[in-house]
Amino acid sequence: MKKTIVTGDRPTGKMHIGHYFGSLQNRVEMQKDYDTYILIADVQALTDNFQDPEKIRKNVKELVLDYLGAGIDPNIANIYIQSMIPEIAELTVYFSNLVTVSRLYRNPTTKFEASQKKELFGDEGSSLTYGFLGYPVSQAADILALGGDIVPVGEDQIPHIEQTREIARKFNNTYGETFVEPEYVLSKNPRIKGLDGNDKMSKSLGNAIYLADSKEEISKKIMSAITDPNKIKKDDPANPDICMVYYYHKLVTPTEQTKKICSECKCGSRGCVACKKELIESMVNYLKPIQDRRKYYEERPEEVEKILKQGTLKAQQRAKQVMQKVRKNMQIDYFKED
Ligand code: TRP
Repeated sequence: MKKTIVTGDRPTGKMHIGHYFGSLQNRVEMQKDYDTYILIADVQALTDNFQDPEKIRKNVKELVLDYLGAGIDPNIANIYIQSMIPEIAELTVYFSNLVTVSRLYRNPTTKFEASQKKELFGDEGSSLTYGFLGYPVSQAADILALGGDIVPVGEDQIPHIEQTREIARKFNNTYGETFVEPEYVLSKNPRIKGLDGNDKMSKSLGNAIYLADSKEEISKKIMSAITDPNKIKKDDPANPDICMVYYYHKLVTPTEQTKKICSECKCGSRGCVACKKELIESMVNYLKPIQDRRKYYEERPEEVEKILKQGTLKAQQRAKQVMQKVRKNMQIDYFKED
């Protein structure tokens, strides 16, 4: 029997190449070998966007298109909507007894997110909501309600998967063997740097290339990417290891050519403008099949809706089965089902 993958994203914006190389590509490769469930985490997105439901609603569509564009195959993987699986909400309530509040305050990812929002964080007067602080508990329910074994994610998600494992263990110790402890899988490039050289590509930092960017947008962004600051003149030798243009060449330009770029840069026979122009071509070529697929689905909204409905139905069926076992083991299975 195939093992199960459960993973997903918050529908808060279009996906960029950081998401692609950081996790989407990995999921596309793995979908053939696993029973794959990819969740659109609308409930989780609402924890810090609850005043803005239109934004989440709109981005659910964008996210499905990004998934399909990136190569998630709806014939083998199930894409589904978190809020349409009530078992996840139910399981979150049961799990909330198994996690202390101070453990939630120790989660480094929520801590970091709180600091970015400039919210007070910690036992001494948090300005965050119960929902935001507790979202790792509901993420554990996302994974365990579907019986997930493997969770392919970006690096920032590791603390949440660790917390999920703790919850599964605690549940099993308390109510008897019910869940497997899921494992995370990182991609080859778990973290992609931004155009400005920042350690992380992110929408809020304005340093991202989006999967759906036009050639004009890509050109503008790449022309402004950070290169070796010590290279002043076109034929100065430079250090490709501190150049963002070379960094992206390694991701999207064929290996042989990338090697040539590296040696030309080091010996000063390659100007940055020409190098950037070449990267624009490579990036556009690389993204073309993704954009073509995205466009195909963008023009067929009924087909996309069918895919989402189908995936959600499959996830519902699976969550129902898992919950029967949960309710039985927790001794809350009051009426025998057929
Ligand atoms: N927290 C994840 C993110 O922000 C999204 C997510 C929600 C998720 N539920 C999940 C990821 C379950 C993996 C498994 O990217």
